[in-house]
Amino acid sequence: PVRYLLTDQGIERLNNDFVTKVPQAVEWLGTSAGSIAGDALLKYEEAFSSCGTVLGEEFRAPTGEGLLLCVQDLWNKGQFDPDDALLGNPLTLLPVYTRLSDAEENERKRFASEQGASTKKDLISGVQGAVVCDASAESEQTDGPVIRYQPLEASWCADVAAMESCVMGSDAWNEAQILDELPRADRSWWAAYAIKDSSKRVATHDNATLVGYVGGWIVDGQVQILKIASDPTYRRQGIAKELMQLVSQDARDLGATECTLEVRVSNTGAHAFYERLGLKNIGKRPRYYSDKEDAFIFTGPLVLSSGDIAGMELRVNEIGTEVVETPQTLILAIESSCDETAAALIDEKGTIISDVVASQIDFHSRFGGVVPEIASRKHIEAIGGVVEECMLQARARLQNPNLSYSDLSAVSVTYAPGLVGALVVGLAFAKGLAWSTDKPLIGVNHLEGHIYANKIDKPSIKPPMVVSLVSGGHTMLVHVKDWGEYETLGSTLDDAVGEAFDKVAKAMGLGYPGGPLISELAKKGNPKAIHFPRAMMHSGDLRFSLSGLKTAVMIYINKEKEAGNALSMADIAASFQQAVIDVQIAKAKKALEQTGAKEFCLGGGVAANPALRQAYIDLCEKMGVGLTMPPLKACTDNASMIAHVALDRYNQEKFFDFTCDVKAHAPLDEPY
Ligand code: KG4
Ligand code: ZN
Repeated sequence: PVRYLLTDQGIERLNNDFVTKVPQAVEWLGTSAGSIAGDALLKYEEAFSSCGTVLGEEFRAPTGEGLLLCVQDLWNKGQFDPDDALLGNPLTLLPVYTRLSDAEENERKRFASEQGASTKKDLISGVQGAVVCDASAESEQTDGPVIRYQPLEASWCADVAAMESCVMGSDAWNEAQILDELPRADRSWWAAYAIKDSSKRVATHDNATLVGYVGGWIVDGQVQILKIASDPTYRRQGIAKELMQLVSQDARDLGATECTLEVRVSNTGAHAFYERLGLKNIGKRPRYYSDKEDAFIFTGPLVLSSGDIAGMELRVNEIGTEVVETPQTLILAIESSCDETAAALIDEKGTIISDVVASQIDFHSRFGGVVPEIASRKHIEAIGGVVEECMLQARARLQNPNLSYSDLSAVSVTYAPGLVGALVVGLAFAKGLAWSTDKPLIGVNHLEGHIYANKIDKPSIKPPMVVSLVSGGHTMLVHVKDWGEYETLGSTLDDAVGEAFDKVAKAMGLGYPGGPLISELAKKGNPKAIHFPRAMMHSGDLRFSLSGLKTAVMIYINKEKEAGNALSMADIAASFQQAVIDVQIAKAKKALEQTGAKEFCLGGGVAANPALRQAYIDLCEKMGVGLTMPPLKACTDNASMIAHVALDRYNQEKFFDFTCDVKAHAPLDEPY
């Protein structure tokens, strides 16, 4: 619950959001709370009716109009910076979730209890007051370890305590004190690990060393930084700043807006660091430390970087730097069907003007796959910034600093297939933008986008052709009779190819997403070392089945482990990959023969696999068939492929109605 006072001066927030149970909320509100709004009324109207006047239907769900009134209020109070392209923009208003996603909450609970086998490393050679930890040999290699960030786990608390005693002297916390912190719901603890093998995304005691940690306590709208330290041998990598940002992101999700901490008066290096992060020294706490040294109190806004989008790395795809003539037609495309938030602009000639992608992969990799709830949240946080960045790039490319949303000819968006909660963010955003600028709305089928990705490098390519779509969600052969006219020749009965790569990688302990990791490993392996099944290779049709192959790899790994044999991960990866490729090639050959098509194309994330690409080069050369493959950056999800479809729809004047909705599944045979 949260209380606001509405006066002629605007909206005043009376407390910070917090999460509680209904009876406690009722008690907290008392009996003269005023007017009560919010969607909890849908279920708990009766419980809250004793607190005040329960408002009607139109006050139960948040509305766009309500949001705009809030923006106006903030604007009136001067809380937007009109000179900052992102900060001054209501598009980048972010929601407060008040609790972490289920997946993250459960992860924290698990991390707080799983003590695991902690390998207490002798990493400290303590020197008074300064952090001096062992400069392990690997940090001196030229391609040194990568730094990865994860919520702190119980099994690493001994390492934290060891580093504490070296950094914090007599104020160091011991392992038990840190362990006691982890299960608390209002705490956020993160750790930085140096991982020797950069292909490993998750830190384990076998492959990683703890090189930093941070602990924050979220209370009364503030995050109090309880502890922060980083290993100075990794100083150049900005670990402390990254840790501050991670805690700040959690704090923001939990309703905090400010950050506060104490630091020793003598630690001038740290003062400068906090000042660079935007915090200010607001006073002294005398004799704060056990050795009686005073502490300075630093406070300021949450440490959220403006360069990235909600903790995601924003990738601006290079699409040439030459200035483009002012376009006659300019279509914005938005993609949010899975774990990439993307936006692109295309002109009437099919030139991509700008192309921006924010990948959420780091948020999902800890969970071994895409977590729908996290995906939805991240899309909401990213979409405004991604679209804005796309426009900023276009302003530069078109040398038109005044380019605005009203210059668009249409707004297009992926409406199907994909995760419903993810698609809905893109569609709602696109509808809002199209409606407010009075432009037509174009819905695009994501799979058709993957087909059109082939146009990015080769605009001249012409149907009829056969396309193999291989992604995390799809495995199919499509006969493209003409643009917009498709016949699915066959698809998978169970797992998709990308899914098989991901599951096998998980079984091999490689991490997520599995495709790139397996294909890298496979380069060093023997594809003939192990015979894995090639399901439905001779089924006489164009259907696929991959779940048996995945199981065969898992059984093989378990059997060899039980027999005490050493596993060659490279051979497993190469042999698995070869089994996939053999079936893909055999079916592609059949599809080409069956349709008589003289062109073959690829699409989807797995089309980035180098061995698969080579196999298609060989096949098409042998069959005398033309081959087009999307550039690597356009194999995985992006918005420029959506933009290419949208351009055709725009020319055909095939627009969507504002009543349209997203679809988890939509057959390619009727893409619109
Ligand atoms: O098209 P995409 O970005 O998302 C979906 O629409 O599913 O495809 C992602 C999938 C993941 O399963 C990933 O493991 C796979 O593409 N992938 C690869 C490679 N790169 C990405 N699979 C095999 N080899 C690769 N090099
Ligand atoms: Zn895709």
